[in-house]
Amino acid sequence: MSPWTFAPTLLLLASVILLLFALARSCVKSGLQNRRLERTNAVQTQRWDSEISGALQHAYITLAVTERAAEWFSTQVVRVDQESADVKSFYLVETSGSPLPRFLPGQHLLIERPPLDGLPTEFRCYSLSDDYQQSYWRISVKKNSVAPASVSRWLHEEIDVGDTVRVRGPSGSFYLQSCTKRHIVLLSAGIGITPMLPMLIETLKCSHDSVNLFAQYRDVDHMPFGEFLLNAAHNFPKARIHMWLSEFPRGVKGSSTNIIQQGKYTASDVCNSIEDLQRADFYLCGPEAWQTKLKNELVECGAIEKNVRFELFQESQTPEKPAEERKAAPCSVHFRQSNKLADFATTYPNLLGFATESHIPINSGCRTGACGTCAVKLLQGKVRYTRKPQFQLKTNEILPCVCVPDGNIVVDA
Ligand SMILES: Cc1cc2nc3c(=O)[nH]c(=O)nc-3n(C[C@H](O)[C@H](O)[C@H](O)COP(=O)(O)OP(=O)(O)OC[C@H]3O[C@@H](n4cnc5c(N)ncnc54)[C@H](O)[C@@H]3O)c2cc1C
Ligand code: FES
Repeated sequence: MSPWTFAPTLLLLASVILLLFALARSCVKSGLQNRRLERTNAVQTQRWDSEISGALQHAYITLAVTERAAEWFSTQVVRVDQESADVKSFYLVETSGSPLPRFLPGQHLLIERPPLDGLPTEFRCYSLSDDYQQSYWRISVKKNSVAPASVSRWLHEEIDVGDTVRVRGPSGSFYLQSCTKRHIVLLSAGIGITPMLPMLIETLKCSHDSVNLFAQYRDVDHMPFGEFLLNAAHNFPKARIHMWLSEFPRGVKGSSTNIIQQGKYTASDVCNSIEDLQRADFYLCGPEAWQTKLKNELVECGAIEKNVRFELFQESQTPEKPAEERKAAPCSVHFRQSNKLADFATTYPNLLGFATESHIPINSGCRTGACGTCAVKLLQGKVRYTRKPQFQLKTNEILPCVCVPDGNIVVDA
Protein backbone atom coordinates (compact mmCIF):
# COMPACT_ATOMS: atom_id res chain seq x y z
CA MET A 1 0.00 0.00 0.00
CA SER A 2 1.40 3.43 -0.97
CA PRO A 3 2.04 5.86 1.93
CA TRP A 4 -0.09 8.37 -0.05
CA THR A 5 -3.16 6.25 0.78
CA PHE A 6 -3.01 7.55 4.42
CA ALA A 7 -2.14 11.11 3.46
CA PRO A 8 -5.72 12.58 3.59
CA THR A 9 -6.38 10.86 6.97
CA LEU A 10 -3.07 12.14 8.38
CA LEU A 11 -3.79 15.61 7.04
CA LEU A 12 -7.25 15.58 8.64
CA LEU A 13 -5.79 14.35 11.95
CA ALA A 14 -3.12 17.07 11.88
CA SER A 15 -5.77 19.74 11.16
CA VAL A 16 -7.92 18.51 14.06
CA ILE A 17 -4.89 18.55 16.42
CA LEU A 18 -3.99 22.05 15.26
CA LEU A 19 -7.59 23.24 15.68
CA LEU A 20 -7.79 21.73 19.19
CA PHE A 21 -4.48 23.34 20.07
CA ALA A 22 -5.65 26.72 18.78
CA LEU A 23 -8.93 26.36 20.68
CA ALA A 24 -7.15 25.39 23.91
CA ARG A 25 -4.78 28.33 23.48
CA SER A 26 -7.59 30.75 22.89
CA CYS A 27 -9.50 29.38 25.92
CA VAL A 28 -6.43 29.77 28.15
CA LYS A 29 -5.84 33.23 26.70
CA SER A 30 -9.42 34.35 27.18
CA GLY A 31 -9.45 32.80 30.67
CA LEU A 32 -6.31 34.75 31.48
CA GLN A 33 -7.82 37.86 29.91
CA ASN A 34 -10.98 37.45 31.95
CA ARG A 35 -8.97 36.94 35.11
CA ARG A 36 -6.88 39.98 34.25
CA LEU A 37 -10.03 41.98 33.52
CA GLU A 38 -11.52 40.91 36.84
CA ARG A 39 -8.27 41.81 38.59
CA THR A 40 -8.10 45.17 36.80
CA ASN A 41 -11.74 45.84 37.61
CA ALA A 42 -11.14 44.93 41.24
CA VAL A 43 -8.07 47.18 41.41
CA GLN A 44 -9.93 49.98 39.64
CA THR A 45 -12.96 49.56 41.88
CA GLN A 46 -10.75 49.53 44.96
CA ARG A 47 -8.92 52.64 43.82
CA TRP A 48 -12.16 54.32 42.81
CA ASP A 49 -13.85 53.38 46.07
CA SER A 50 -11.02 54.74 48.16
CA GLU A 51 -11.05 57.98 46.21
CA ILE A 52 -14.79 58.27 46.58
CA SER A 53 -14.66 57.33 50.21
CA GLY A 54 -12.01 59.95 50.79
CA ALA A 55 -13.66 62.99 49.32
CA LEU A 56 -16.38 61.88 46.88
CA GLN A 57 -14.25 62.34 43.78
CA HIS A 58 -15.12 65.57 42.08
CA ALA A 59 -15.24 64.31 38.49
CA TYR A 60 -17.56 61.48 39.39
CA ILE A 61 -19.93 63.81 41.21
CA THR A 62 -20.06 66.12 38.22
CA LEU A 63 -20.82 63.17 35.98
CA ALA A 64 -23.45 61.64 38.23
CA VAL A 65 -25.26 64.92 38.64
CA THR A 66 -25.02 66.45 35.21
CA GLU A 67 -25.34 63.30 33.15
CA ARG A 68 -28.94 62.67 32.18
CA ALA A 69 -30.38 59.81 34.22
CA ALA A 70 -30.16 56.52 32.36
CA GLU A 71 -33.07 55.25 30.30
CA TRP A 72 -35.76 53.05 31.81
CA PHE A 73 -34.74 49.51 32.62
CA SER A 74 -36.15 46.47 34.40
CA THR A 75 -35.08 45.41 37.86
CA GLN A 76 -36.01 42.32 39.78
CA VAL A 77 -37.04 42.36 43.42
CA VAL A 78 -34.76 39.97 45.31
CA ARG A 79 -35.76 40.76 48.89
CA VAL A 80 -38.55 42.57 50.73
CA ASP A 81 -38.26 43.58 54.40
CA GLN A 82 -40.91 45.04 56.68
CA GLU A 83 -38.99 47.86 58.41
CA SER A 84 -41.80 49.22 60.59
CA ALA A 85 -45.60 49.28 60.74
CA ASP A 86 -45.95 51.12 57.41
CA VAL A 87 -42.51 50.97 55.75
CA LYS A 88 -41.20 48.19 53.52
CA SER A 89 -37.78 47.93 51.87
CA PHE A 90 -37.42 46.52 48.37
CA TYR A 91 -34.04 45.23 47.19
CA LEU A 92 -33.58 45.52 43.43
CA VAL A 93 -31.04 44.05 41.00
CA GLU A 94 -30.71 44.49 37.23
CA THR A 95 -32.85 41.81 35.57
CA SER A 96 -30.13 41.11 32.99
CA GLY A 97 -27.54 40.67 35.76
CA SER A 98 -25.52 43.75 34.67
CA PRO A 99 -24.11 45.96 37.43
CA LEU A 100 -26.38 48.82 38.45
CA PRO A 101 -25.27 52.41 37.79
CA ARG A 102 -23.51 54.10 40.71
CA PHE A 103 -25.41 56.66 42.76
CA LEU A 104 -24.41 59.40 45.14
CA PRO A 105 -25.49 59.06 48.79
CA GLY A 106 -28.84 60.91 48.95
CA GLN A 107 -29.98 60.42 45.33
CA HIS A 108 -33.24 58.77 44.29
CA LEU A 109 -34.86 56.49 41.69
CA LEU A 110 -37.96 56.90 39.62
CA ILE A 111 -40.36 53.94 39.72
CA GLU A 112 -42.98 53.16 37.10
CA ARG A 113 -46.31 51.71 38.20
CA PRO A 114 -47.79 50.13 35.03
CA PRO A 115 -51.47 50.70 34.10
CA LEU A 116 -53.64 48.99 36.70
CA ASP A 117 -57.39 48.28 36.77
CA GLY A 118 -58.12 51.04 34.26
CA LEU A 119 -55.74 53.49 35.97
CA PRO A 120 -53.00 55.03 33.82
CA THR A 121 -49.25 54.51 34.36
CA GLU A 122 -47.91 56.46 37.34
CA PHE A 123 -44.40 57.50 38.32
CA ARG A 124 -42.98 58.22 41.78
CA CYS A 125 -39.53 58.92 43.24
CA TYR A 126 -37.92 56.85 46.00
CA SER A 127 -34.58 57.62 47.67
CA LEU A 128 -31.90 54.95 47.63
CA SER A 129 -31.64 53.92 51.25
CA ASP A 130 -28.51 51.76 51.51
CA ASP A 131 -24.77 51.98 50.92
CA TYR A 132 -23.97 52.99 47.32
CA GLN A 133 -21.29 50.29 47.21
CA GLN A 134 -23.76 47.40 47.42
CA SER A 135 -24.51 45.35 44.32
CA TYR A 136 -28.24 45.98 44.78
CA TRP A 137 -30.38 49.08 45.13
CA ARG A 138 -32.67 49.39 48.12
CA ILE A 139 -35.68 51.66 48.34
CA SER A 140 -37.76 51.99 51.51
CA VAL A 141 -41.34 52.97 50.97
CA LYS A 142 -43.93 54.25 53.41
CA LYS A 143 -47.45 53.14 52.55
CA ASN A 144 -48.79 56.60 52.03
CA SER A 145 -52.40 56.08 51.17
CA VAL A 146 -54.98 53.45 50.35
CA ALA A 147 -56.21 55.32 47.27
CA PRO A 148 -56.41 52.98 44.23
CA ALA A 149 -53.87 55.12 42.31
CA SER A 150 -51.33 55.17 45.15
CA VAL A 151 -47.96 53.87 44.01
CA SER A 152 -46.78 53.13 47.55
CA ARG A 153 -49.89 51.04 48.10
CA TRP A 154 -49.16 49.11 44.88
CA LEU A 155 -45.59 48.45 46.01
CA HIS A 156 -46.74 47.30 49.45
CA GLU A 157 -49.63 45.13 48.29
CA GLU A 158 -48.65 43.83 44.86
CA ILE A 159 -44.87 43.66 44.70
CA ASP A 160 -42.90 40.76 46.13
CA VAL A 161 -39.69 38.78 45.60
CA GLY A 162 -39.30 37.75 41.94
CA ASP A 163 -41.43 40.59 40.55
CA THR A 164 -40.14 43.03 37.95
CA VAL A 165 -40.14 46.78 38.55
CA ARG A 166 -39.18 49.32 35.89
CA VAL A 167 -36.95 52.12 37.13
CA ARG A 168 -35.01 55.12 35.89
CA GLY A 169 -32.12 56.85 37.57
CA PRO A 170 -30.36 57.47 39.81
CA SER A 171 -30.75 61.24 39.88
CA GLY A 172 -31.19 64.26 42.14
CA SER A 173 -29.02 67.05 43.46
CA PHE A 174 -29.63 66.26 47.15
CA TYR A 175 -26.52 64.27 48.00
CA LEU A 176 -23.59 64.32 50.41
CA GLN A 177 -21.25 67.00 49.07
CA SER A 178 -18.14 66.11 51.00
CA CYS A 179 -17.47 64.83 54.46
CA THR A 180 -13.79 65.58 54.89
CA LYS A 181 -13.12 68.11 57.65
CA ARG A 182 -16.79 68.97 58.02
CA HIS A 183 -19.39 68.48 60.72
CA ILE A 184 -22.10 66.48 59.00
CA VAL A 185 -25.58 66.99 60.40
CA LEU A 186 -28.36 64.75 59.10
CA LEU A 187 -31.85 65.80 60.14
CA SER A 188 -34.91 63.72 59.34
CA ALA A 189 -38.54 63.35 60.28
CA GLY A 190 -40.50 60.17 59.55
CA ILE A 191 -39.77 58.56 56.19
CA GLY A 192 -37.28 61.40 55.53
CA ILE A 193 -34.73 59.03 57.12
CA THR A 194 -34.24 57.21 53.77
CA PRO A 195 -31.75 59.53 52.00
CA MET A 196 -29.90 60.01 55.32
CA LEU A 197 -28.92 56.33 55.55
CA PRO A 198 -26.45 56.17 52.62
CA MET A 199 -25.10 59.57 53.72
CA LEU A 200 -24.55 58.29 57.26
CA ILE A 201 -22.88 55.11 55.98
CA GLU A 202 -20.60 57.14 53.70
CA THR A 203 -19.76 59.61 56.45
CA LEU A 204 -18.75 56.78 58.79
CA LYS A 205 -16.14 55.74 56.20
CA CYS A 206 -14.49 59.13 55.77
CA SER A 207 -12.46 61.42 57.98
CA HIS A 208 -15.18 63.85 59.00
CA ASP A 209 -14.95 66.01 62.12
CA SER A 210 -18.23 64.69 63.49
CA VAL A 211 -21.50 63.24 62.31
CA ASN A 212 -24.78 63.92 64.06
CA LEU A 213 -28.00 62.28 62.98
CA PHE A 214 -31.29 63.46 64.45
CA ALA A 215 -34.29 61.31 63.51
CA GLN A 216 -37.81 62.26 64.54
CA TYR A 217 -40.24 59.34 64.79
CA ARG A 218 -43.87 59.08 65.78
CA ASP A 219 -43.62 56.06 68.12
CA VAL A 220 -41.89 52.67 68.45
CA ASP A 221 -44.11 51.11 65.78
CA HIS A 222 -43.13 53.80 63.30
CA MET A 223 -39.38 53.78 63.70
CA PRO A 224 -37.91 52.46 60.42
CA PHE A 225 -34.18 51.64 60.73
CA GLY A 226 -34.24 52.31 64.49
CA GLU A 227 -32.23 49.15 65.14
CA PHE A 228 -29.71 50.03 62.44
CA LEU A 229 -29.23 53.46 64.01
CA LEU A 230 -28.79 51.99 67.50
CA ASN A 231 -26.13 49.62 66.14
CA ALA A 232 -24.37 52.52 64.40
CA ALA A 233 -24.41 54.49 67.67
CA HIS A 234 -22.83 51.56 69.55
CA ASN A 235 -20.30 50.53 66.92
CA PHE A 236 -19.07 53.95 65.76
CA PRO A 237 -18.16 56.23 68.67
CA LYS A 238 -17.95 59.20 66.28
CA ALA A 239 -21.58 58.70 65.20
CA ARG A 240 -23.80 60.77 67.44
CA ILE A 241 -27.26 59.39 66.91
CA HIS A 242 -30.28 61.09 68.44
CA MET A 243 -33.65 59.41 67.98
CA TRP A 244 -36.70 61.30 69.17
CA LEU A 245 -40.09 59.69 69.71
CA SER A 246 -43.13 61.97 69.83
CA GLU A 247 -45.05 59.31 71.75
CA PHE A 248 -43.14 57.25 74.27
CA PRO A 249 -44.46 53.88 75.47
CA ARG A 250 -46.33 54.34 78.75
CA GLY A 251 -44.05 54.12 81.80
CA VAL A 252 -40.82 54.03 79.77
CA LYS A 253 -38.15 56.69 80.18
CA GLY A 254 -35.56 57.92 77.64
CA SER A 255 -32.35 55.87 77.33
CA SER A 256 -29.57 56.79 79.78
CA THR A 257 -27.25 57.30 76.79
CA ASN A 258 -29.65 59.89 75.37
CA ILE A 259 -29.78 57.98 72.08
CA ILE A 260 -33.57 57.76 72.32
CA GLN A 261 -35.42 60.72 73.76
CA GLN A 262 -39.00 61.70 74.27
CA GLY A 263 -40.61 64.61 72.40
CA LYS A 264 -39.56 66.56 69.32
CA TYR A 265 -36.08 67.87 68.67
CA THR A 266 -35.58 71.56 68.01
CA ALA A 267 -32.97 73.69 66.24
CA SER A 268 -31.37 74.49 69.58
CA ASP A 269 -30.93 70.74 70.35
CA VAL A 270 -29.15 70.49 67.02
CA CYS A 271 -27.04 73.64 67.36
CA ASN A 272 -25.96 72.75 70.91
CA SER A 273 -24.52 69.46 69.71
CA ILE A 274 -22.20 70.97 67.08
CA GLU A 275 -18.82 72.46 67.97
CA ASP A 276 -18.36 74.75 64.98
CA LEU A 277 -21.53 75.77 63.13
CA GLN A 278 -19.47 77.53 60.45
CA ARG A 279 -17.99 74.19 59.38
CA ALA A 280 -21.26 72.28 59.49
CA ASP A 281 -23.24 70.92 56.53
CA PHE A 282 -26.93 70.27 57.23
CA TYR A 283 -29.12 67.86 55.26
CA LEU A 284 -32.86 67.98 56.00
CA CYS A 285 -35.68 65.70 54.87
CA GLY A 286 -39.19 65.71 56.28
CA PRO A 287 -42.52 67.51 55.85
CA GLU A 288 -42.19 70.89 54.16
CA ALA A 289 -43.47 73.06 57.04
CA TRP A 290 -41.10 71.27 59.46
CA GLN A 291 -38.15 71.75 57.09
CA THR A 292 -38.81 75.45 56.54
CA LYS A 293 -39.14 76.18 60.26
CA LEU A 294 -36.05 74.15 61.17
CA LYS A 295 -33.97 75.71 58.40
CA ASN A 296 -34.85 79.26 59.52
CA GLU A 297 -34.09 78.44 63.15
CA LEU A 298 -30.77 76.79 62.27
CA VAL A 299 -29.72 79.91 60.37
CA GLU A 300 -30.80 82.05 63.36
CA CYS A 301 -28.59 80.02 65.66
CA GLY A 302 -25.52 80.41 63.42
CA ALA A 303 -25.72 77.89 60.54
CA ILE A 304 -24.63 79.21 57.13
CA GLU A 305 -27.72 79.29 54.94
CA LYS A 306 -26.08 77.86 51.80
CA ASN A 307 -24.90 74.87 53.82
CA VAL A 308 -28.45 73.88 54.77
CA ARG A 309 -29.72 71.56 52.02
CA PHE A 310 -33.06 69.84 51.85
CA GLU A 311 -35.14 67.34 49.92
CA LEU A 312 -38.89 67.60 49.45
CA PHE A 313 -40.90 64.39 49.12
CA GLN A 314 -44.11 66.17 48.04
CA GLU A 315 -45.13 69.01 45.78
CA SER A 316 -44.22 72.27 47.48
CA GLN A 317 -47.05 74.29 49.02
CA THR A 318 -44.77 77.29 49.50
CA PRO A 319 -42.71 78.01 46.36
CA GLU A 320 -39.11 79.17 46.79
CA LYS A 321 -39.37 82.32 44.70
CA PRO A 322 -41.17 85.54 45.71
CA ALA A 323 -44.76 85.91 44.46
CA GLU A 324 -43.89 88.46 41.76
CA GLU A 325 -41.32 86.05 40.24
CA ARG A 326 -43.72 83.12 40.36
CA LYS A 327 -46.70 84.80 38.78
CA ALA A 328 -47.03 84.71 35.04
CA ALA A 329 -48.54 87.69 33.23
CA PRO A 330 -51.71 86.75 31.30
CA CYS A 331 -50.52 84.92 28.19
CA SER A 332 -51.41 82.06 25.90
CA VAL A 333 -50.05 78.53 25.84
CA HIS A 334 -50.17 76.55 22.63
CA PHE A 335 -49.95 72.79 23.25
CA ARG A 336 -48.81 71.80 19.76
CA GLN A 337 -49.26 68.00 19.84
CA SER A 338 -52.77 68.33 21.25
CA ASN A 339 -53.46 71.30 18.95
CA LYS A 340 -54.92 73.33 21.81
CA LEU A 341 -54.51 77.02 22.51
CA ALA A 342 -55.40 78.13 26.04
CA ASP A 343 -55.10 81.31 28.10
CA PHE A 344 -52.79 80.77 31.06
CA ALA A 345 -54.59 81.89 34.19
CA THR A 346 -52.22 83.65 36.56
CA THR A 347 -53.71 81.69 39.45
CA TYR A 348 -51.94 78.51 38.33
CA PRO A 349 -48.80 77.86 40.37
CA ASN A 350 -47.10 76.09 37.46
CA LEU A 351 -47.48 74.96 33.85
CA LEU A 352 -48.06 71.31 34.81
CA GLY A 353 -51.17 72.14 36.86
CA PHE A 354 -52.44 74.27 34.00
CA ALA A 355 -51.82 71.46 31.46
CA THR A 356 -53.65 68.94 33.67
CA GLU A 357 -56.63 71.27 34.04
CA SER A 358 -56.62 71.79 30.27
CA HIS A 359 -56.71 67.97 29.78
CA ILE A 360 -53.24 67.88 28.23
CA PRO A 361 -51.57 64.65 29.32
CA ILE A 362 -48.11 65.29 30.81
CA ASN A 363 -46.68 62.58 33.07
CA SER A 364 -45.20 63.58 36.42
CA GLY A 365 -43.21 61.78 39.09
CA CYS A 366 -42.28 64.29 41.81
CA ARG A 367 -43.75 67.72 41.03
CA THR A 368 -40.68 69.23 42.64
CA GLY A 369 -38.39 69.48 39.60
CA ALA A 370 -36.34 66.48 40.71
CA CYS A 371 -37.16 63.55 38.43
CA GLY A 372 -37.50 64.88 34.86
CA THR A 373 -40.68 62.90 34.13
CA CYS A 374 -42.62 65.99 33.05
CA ALA A 375 -39.88 67.32 30.72
CA VAL A 376 -41.31 68.67 27.45
CA LYS A 377 -39.83 70.65 24.54
CA LEU A 378 -40.38 74.40 24.52
CA LEU A 379 -40.88 75.23 20.84
CA GLN A 380 -41.35 78.99 21.21
CA GLY A 381 -41.16 81.61 23.94
CA LYS A 382 -39.68 81.64 27.44
CA VAL A 383 -40.55 80.26 30.88
CA ARG A 384 -39.67 81.32 34.40
CA TYR A 385 -38.76 78.79 37.07
CA THR A 386 -40.56 78.89 40.43
CA ARG A 387 -38.14 76.35 41.87
CA LYS A 388 -34.62 75.48 40.75
CA PRO A 389 -34.76 72.32 38.58
CA GLN A 390 -32.67 69.48 39.99
CA PHE A 391 -32.78 67.56 36.75
CA GLN A 392 -30.32 68.01 33.89
CA LEU A 393 -32.36 69.18 30.90
CA LYS A 394 -31.60 68.83 27.19
CA THR A 395 -31.52 71.96 25.02
CA ASN A 396 -35.01 73.50 24.67
CA GLU A 397 -36.54 71.24 27.33
CA ILE A 398 -38.48 72.63 30.30
CA LEU A 399 -39.92 71.16 33.50
CA PRO A 400 -43.60 72.24 33.59
CA CYS A 401 -43.98 71.21 37.26
CA VAL A 402 -41.72 74.07 38.38
CA CYS A 403 -42.17 76.80 35.78
CA VAL A 404 -44.67 79.36 34.51
CA PRO A 405 -44.81 80.97 31.04
CA ASP A 406 -42.96 84.25 30.58
CA GLY A 407 -45.14 85.54 27.72
CA ASN A 408 -46.84 83.47 25.01
CA ILE A 409 -45.34 80.01 24.58
CA VAL A 410 -45.61 76.93 22.33
CA VAL A 411 -44.86 73.56 23.95
CA ASP A 412 -44.57 70.10 22.40
CA ALA A 413 -47.34 68.43 24.40
C1 LIG B 1 -37.00 63.00 45.52
C2 LIG B 1 -38.05 62.20 46.24
C3 LIG B 1 -37.68 61.11 47.02
C4 LIG B 1 -38.65 60.36 47.70
N1 LIG B 1 -38.25 59.32 48.50
C5 LIG B 1 -39.17 58.60 49.16
C6 LIG B 1 -38.77 57.50 49.98
O1 LIG B 1 -37.59 57.18 50.11
N2 LIG B 1 -39.75 56.79 50.62
C7 LIG B 1 -41.08 57.11 50.50
O2 LIG B 1 -41.92 56.42 51.09
N3 LIG B 1 -41.48 58.17 49.74
C8 LIG B 1 -40.55 58.89 49.06
N4 LIG B 1 -40.97 59.93 48.26
C9 LIG B 1 -42.42 60.21 48.11
C10 LIG B 1 -42.99 59.31 46.99
O3 LIG B 1 -42.45 59.68 45.76
C11 LIG B 1 -44.52 59.39 46.86
O4 LIG B 1 -44.91 60.73 46.79
C12 LIG B 1 -45.22 58.72 48.01
O5 LIG B 1 -44.90 57.34 48.03
C13 LIG B 1 -46.74 58.90 47.88
O6 LIG B 1 -47.16 58.44 46.64
P1 LIG B 1 -48.47 57.55 46.48
O7 LIG B 1 -48.72 57.40 45.03
O8 LIG B 1 -48.37 56.31 47.25
O9 LIG B 1 -49.59 58.37 47.20
P2 LIG B 1 -50.75 59.29 46.58
O10 LIG B 1 -51.67 59.47 47.70
O11 LIG B 1 -51.27 58.80 45.29
O12 LIG B 1 -50.00 60.60 46.28
C14 LIG B 1 -49.49 61.35 47.32
C15 LIG B 1 -49.51 62.80 46.95
O13 LIG B 1 -48.78 63.00 45.75
C16 LIG B 1 -49.58 63.72 44.81
N5 LIG B 1 -49.29 63.20 43.47
C17 LIG B 1 -50.14 62.63 42.63
N6 LIG B 1 -49.52 62.33 41.49
C18 LIG B 1 -48.25 62.70 41.63
C19 LIG B 1 -47.12 62.66 40.81
N7 LIG B 1 -47.17 62.17 39.58
N8 LIG B 1 -45.96 63.12 41.27
C20 LIG B 1 -45.88 63.60 42.48
N9 LIG B 1 -46.93 63.70 43.32
C21 LIG B 1 -48.09 63.27 42.90
C22 LIG B 1 -50.99 63.51 45.21
O14 LIG B 1 -51.71 64.66 44.86
C23 LIG B 1 -50.90 63.33 46.70
O15 LIG B 1 -50.98 64.54 47.37
C24 LIG B 1 -40.03 60.71 47.58
C25 LIG B 1 -40.40 61.79 46.78
C26 LIG B 1 -39.43 62.54 46.12
C27 LIG B 1 -39.86 63.70 45.27
S1 FES C 1 -42.57 65.84 37.75
FE1 FES C 1 -40.56 65.42 38.35
S2 FES C 1 -39.48 67.03 37.38
FE2 FES C 1 -41.52 67.50 36.96
